[in-house]
Amino acid sequence: MSNTHASPYGTLPPASPVAARKPISLPRLNELRARGEKITMLTAYDATFAAVADAAGVECILVGDSLGMVCQGLSSTAGVTLETMRYHTESVVRGLRRVQGTAWVIGDLPFGSYQESREQALRSATVLMQAGAHMVKLEGGGWTTETVRFLVERGIPVCAHLGLTPQTVHALGGYRVQGKGESAGKLRQDALALQNAGATMLVLEMVPEPLSTALTQELPRCHTIGIGAGNGTAGQVLVMHDMLGINLGKNPKFVHNFMQGADSVQHAMSNYVAAVKNGSFPDNSLHAW
Ligand code: KIV
Repeated sequence: MSNTHASPYGTLPPASPVAARKPISLPRLNELRARGEKITMLTAYDATFAAVADAAGVECILVGDSLGMVCQGLSSTAGVTLETMRYHTESVVRGLRRVQGTAWVIGDLPFGSYQESREQALRSATVLMQAGAHMVKLEGGGWTTETVRFLVERGIPVCAHLGLTPQTVHALGGYRVQGKGESAGKLRQDALALQNAGATMLVLEMVPEPLSTALTQELPRCHTIGIGAGNGTAGQVLVMHDMLGINLGKNPKFVHNFMQGADSVQHAMSNYVAAVKNGSFPDNSLHAW
């Protein structure tokens, strides 16, 4: 990692010096949104990649349960345990601390760690917050509303996740677009209920662009973060391995390989940040669903 442009190994992209950057917090994210600046998020699962993403200017790092697929070789995220999420969250946070990183860290609550009761969700969220996360994420619609309220009332910031929810991919019948036709109304209702319950971020995965754009207007207190949901959301997230072109499977068509034309991982990540900020990624024509 370097904050300079010249390197014996090639030309590195400019990254703002760490000392010049303020730690990302909820008020900082509100400020970005208020001035119309897109929020950038990438997944990371270990100390080094988290530090590189931070140096590239990524504001939010999601320690996603997608690590089940990209790190553990599982065929879905359903097999990831809370202990595994704790381990990776701690690794990411240690990496950021070593480089005085500023990123906002979101710990993903895995399948089976919050569905039983609000109390179970609080116990699981506490594990990830104690590992150093600033916020937890959970998947699901209206049925999660009371859990979100319970966590937020107890001082735990929550990111909700609607649309394609990978933990329930089997119930959804595969990795398919959600919120088309009549189901758009239900998704909209769930999103509003989650904002009212106190969720301050909402991942919208594989949702039609007109719906995610409309929801972004309708949710002033909850930052919409799209993945395969067009470029009308308040921010964007990608799975790191997908945007580096090292996914073992087939990349979803909404993903761009940012290693193309980049001479380092940090360069690829800073190109991603620039493309999200200037609105050139995502390109809506790549996923007209
Ligand atoms: O686990 C994860 O990486 C996620 C993203 C796909 C948003 O939930």
